[in-house]
Amino acid sequence: LFCWTIQSFLHSAEKKPPLLPRLFSHARGMRKKLIAGNWKMFKKIGEAQSLIKEIAQGAGDLGGVELLVCPPYTALNAASEARKGTQIKVGAQDLHWEEQGAFTGKISWDMIRDTGAEYVIIGHSEQRSYFHETDDTVNKKTKTALKGGLVPVICVGETLAERDGNRTMDVVSTQTKKAFEGITKEDATKCVIAYEPVWAIGTGRNATPEQAQEVHAGIRALIQSLYDASVAEGMRILYGGSMKPDNAKSLLTQKDIDGGLIGGASLKADSFLAIARAGL
Ligand code: PGA
Repeated sequence: LFCWTIQSFLHSAEKKPPLLPRLFSHARGMRKKLIAGNWKMFKKIGEAQSLIKEIAQGAGDLGGVELLVCPPYTALNAASEARKGTQIKVGAQDLHWEEQGAFTGKISWDMIRDTGAEYVIIGHSEQRSYFHETDDTVNKKTKTALKGGLVPVICVGETLAERDGNRTMDVVSTQTKKAFEGITKEDATKCVIAYEPVWAIGTGRNATPEQAQEVHAGIRALIQSLYDASVAEGMRILYGGSMKPDNAKSLLTQKDIDGGLIGGASLKADSFLAIARAGL
C-alpha cells in the first residue's frame, strides 16, 4: 500500500504543474495575454511558412505575451514544423467531436494533434452562421478537445439585432453556459473564451473598449458562478472583431480583456506583431 501511495503521488506530481506557480498564474492580473491569429480560409502551405518565419523574426521582444496562429487544416503540419524553436503556437479552426468515422469533410482531435497543433477554435460565428454550429455542437467539441489534450478557444458573441434589442449579456451567457455544460472545474481551467460581437467581425467596426470590457466582466462573473473565483480569475477571455494595431492598446488595457482573436490583421506579420506589442 505504501509503495502504491508513493507511486501514485509521484505519478500525479508528474502530470500536474507545481501548486505554487499554478496558484500564481491564477492570481489577479497574472493572466498572460494570448494574441491569436485566426487565418480563416487564407494562406497556402508556403505562405503559412513564410508568415510564421516573419512573425518569429519580429517577435524578439514579445516574450511577455503568448502568440498563436490558426491556419487552415492543409497548412497545420507545415506551420507546426515552421514554428519549431520559436514561441509561436499553432491551432486548428474547428474539429469534429468524434475521434473517427464516416464524416466526410471533417477532421478529429487526433488528426489535429497529429499535425503538431495544440489549440482549436470552437464555435466561431462564421461556423455558427454558415455551417450549422449550435450551442450543443460547441459543447460536444469542447469536451472532445479537452479529452484529446487540445486547448479550446470557445467563441461567443451577439448579433447586431441582439445588441440593439439589449440582449447581449443574455445571448453571451447562454452560449457560455451551454459551452461549459458538464465540464469539470479542472478542465474549465484549460479553456480560453473569445468574445466576438458578430457585428464587429470583418466589418472594421470594433466594439468600444468600454462595451467589450462590460461583456468580458460579465463573462468572468458567470464563470465564477459556474465554478469559483480562482477559475474565473485564471480564465483568459480574448476580444475579437476588427482588432487592429490602432485600437489594440485601448482594448488590451481593459481589466478583463486578456488578449485578442484577430482575423484580417493577423494575415500580415507587421500588423499581427503590432497588436501583440500592444498587449505587453
Ligand atoms: P476580424 O476577425 O479581426 O477580421 O474582424 C476576427 C475573427 O473572426 O476571429
